[in-house]
Amino acid sequence: MKTICLIEGDGIGHEVIPAAAAVLAALQPSWKLISAEAGYDCFRRSGESLPARTLELARGADAVLFGAATSPSVPVAGFRSAIRTLRRELDLFANLRPALSLPLEGHRPGTDLLLVRENSEGAYVAQERRYGDLAIADVVITRAASLRIGEVAAREALRRRGRLTVVHKANVLPVSQGLFRQSVLEAAAGFAGLEIEERIVDAAAMELVMHPERFDVLVMTNLLGDVLSDLCAGLVGGLGLAPSANLGTVHALFEPVHGSAPDIAGRGVANPSAALLSLALLLEHLGQATAAQRLRRALLASLQAGVRTPDLGGQATTDQLTGAVLERLGT
Ligand code: NAI
Ligand code: MG
Repeated sequence: MKTICLIEGDGIGHEVIPAAAAVLAALQPSWKLISAEAGYDCFRRSGESLPARTLELARGADAVLFGAATSPSVPVAGFRSAIRTLRRELDLFANLRPALSLPLEGHRPGTDLLLVRENSEGAYVAQERRYGDLAIADVVITRAASLRIGEVAAREALRRRGRLTVVHKANVLPVSQGLFRQSVLEAAAGFAGLEIEERIVDAAAMELVMHPERFDVLVMTNLLGDVLSDLCAGLVGGLGLAPSANLGTVHALFEPVHGSAPDIAGRGVANPSAALLSLALLLEHLGQATAAQRLRRALLASLQAGVRTPDLGGQATTDQLTGAVLERLGT
């Protein structure tokens, strides 16, 4: 028996997490599912985007399934991003974002890569200062965090096709990006049988669009990984299909790459696939590879049968796609 903490968050988090919860309840009827609140609406209601109770439930669970949380693009006094706080509090230093082409008509084949994003520092320390018309943001890179993300990426590459690409901008920032590059290369050198290469981030962006099939595992700092992982989602059908895992040495949190999608929230048309594929990663992480496989097969069969949400060119609602997956779980 496992305990899973479900955090819907904001916007379409309220639509895709209940969908994933229904599928999880069908796959693992004995597991305990507990819901906890977090996000911008929670902040506006209670003054806290991540209440202490939520953090406690997340810490006590075997894994967390998180939807999405809104972050305002202007400074709001007292506000801290719930997901970034969770990543820090649970020491979830590795963000794994797989991008896999699905065999669906109209989809481009050939992408099967894993983007590994350093999750604990870089520009996401969010230390910003404003002096009149001048603004300064810190970017923090440490050897320790770069070594540990390098090890995670190397281990993942060995489990896959054995190819690791270090993505950086050390040509312009040789001190900070240079320390990241050097530390990751050093960590990777400890793993025999890896093919290690590097790319400057802008060239990597172009190559990802033109020849995504050349890549296996890519590793990079926080902000670069945030940007390029959405690009990778675009290669394989969009944010509606992109899952992620946030891993530390103790805790694990799984979430779709997408945000709260205020443009479609509340209409019941959000694609639950990214949340379901994140659930598949969660199941694998907790030793349930067979259940994860059943889920992926049921989802693919549903999409192939034409049960698709509007982002994939269809007319299905969140509930209809979820229902189609539930029906096919047994097959
Ligand atoms: P977004 O990912 O929410 O949406 C981008 C576009 O993709 C929108 O047109 C949206 O409708 C579409 N989309 C995303 N997920 C979809 C799904 N499951 N089904 C169908 N269409 C989908 O990114 P955006 O608009 O830049 O950010 C909205 C809010 O979400 C912001 O407040 C942002 O800070 C937050 N955000 C939160 C994240 C998290 O909680 N981890 C990650 C990214 C953004
Ligand atoms: Mg992002």
